[in-house]
Amino acid sequence: TGRLRVLSGIQPTAGSFHLGNYLGAVRQWVALQETHDAFYMVVDLHAITIPQDPAELRASTRLAAAQLLSAGVDPARCTLFVQSHVPEHSQLAWVMNCLTRFGEASRMTQFKDKSAKQGAEGTSVGLFTYPVLQAADILLYHANQVPVGEDQRQHVELTRDVGQRFNSQFGDTLTLPEAYILKETAKIYDLQDPAAKMSKSAASDKGVVWLMDEAKVSAKKFRSAVTDTGTEVRYDPVAKPGVSNLLTIYSALTGLSVGEIEEKFAGQLYGPLKTEVAEIFADWVAPFRTRVLEFLDDPAQLDAILAEGAAKAREVASGTMATVYDRMGF
Ligand code: ADP
Ligand code: NA
Repeated sequence: TGRLRVLSGIQPTAGSFHLGNYLGAVRQWVALQETHDAFYMVVDLHAITIPQDPAELRASTRLAAAQLLSAGVDPARCTLFVQSHVPEHSQLAWVMNCLTRFGEASRMTQFKDKSAKQGAEGTSVGLFTYPVLQAADILLYHANQVPVGEDQRQHVELTRDVGQRFNSQFGDTLTLPEAYILKETAKIYDLQDPAAKMSKSAASDKGVVWLMDEAKVSAKKFRSAVTDTGTEVRYDPVAKPGVSNLLTIYSALTGLSVGEIEEKFAGQLYGPLKTEVAEIFADWVAPFRTRVLEFLDDPAQLDAILAEGAAKAREVASGTMATVYDRMGF
């Protein structure tokens, strides 16, 4: 196609995606499928690096796919699949595990953070080699660009390093990707704790807006968002992180600039801003939720879409894997 290839993955999560996932990641996927040769996957193999209940994993994988489709990820414009449906991910991951140095894997800060919380006996080796599986995910498709948040930059660097190592030992085979850090990517903060990013692992979900929650529940979360004691609706992430977060969400969901929104609320207190963000979100999320529920109502159709995506993905993945094995002497 002449287009650069992007690859991105998202983990299936039990409840649903939150607004940060949508505005920070999924929305960009929808845009990038128009300009890039896009490969998107639900990374269920990554999900089992921490314990998973089988029934829950199956349900959350379908739910993730249904949400991506409902948000506008279009199988006619990209390749959408579930990671475990393409066995080459695990195959290449083993090869990459053997090319990755224990020392370099040990330097991954995300692992250090996560394992510190769980302790060595509570941490799987899979969590340790998670970035190596991620490298395999990317290298399998010769992805040129990997849209990620700043926190994932180190993993893309690791991917380049092990990919380069393969190429220099076995001959030029793998494409070295670049991190594609979206500057305009909205970072969404917790509505109750605007110093922390909105996250599925927040201690309390009072400030986390789940896409599949009832509209009433989300509206209440917006209306009770923490703001400062001032009165002026102004974008100032340092002095007014709560208000600024609401402005970011408002802007992202409407396409209005922050300046335009500030002007609209000139002379008003925070109440009307909160109410309006709640309404705008409700208007956006209602048809989204309906579509998700329709997909979940027809799992056979959903599975067929995913099977087709996996077949498209395997066309590329099996070619890469055959070359890799051949060059290594298998
Ligand atoms: P969480 O932080 O809730 O565990 P994940 O790490 O599973 O979310 O992130 C999935 C995707 O959503 C990633 O691309 C990540 O950058 C994006 N994302 C997660 N939280 C936010 C947020 N608060 N604001 C913007 N993007 C986010
Ligand atoms: Na994260």
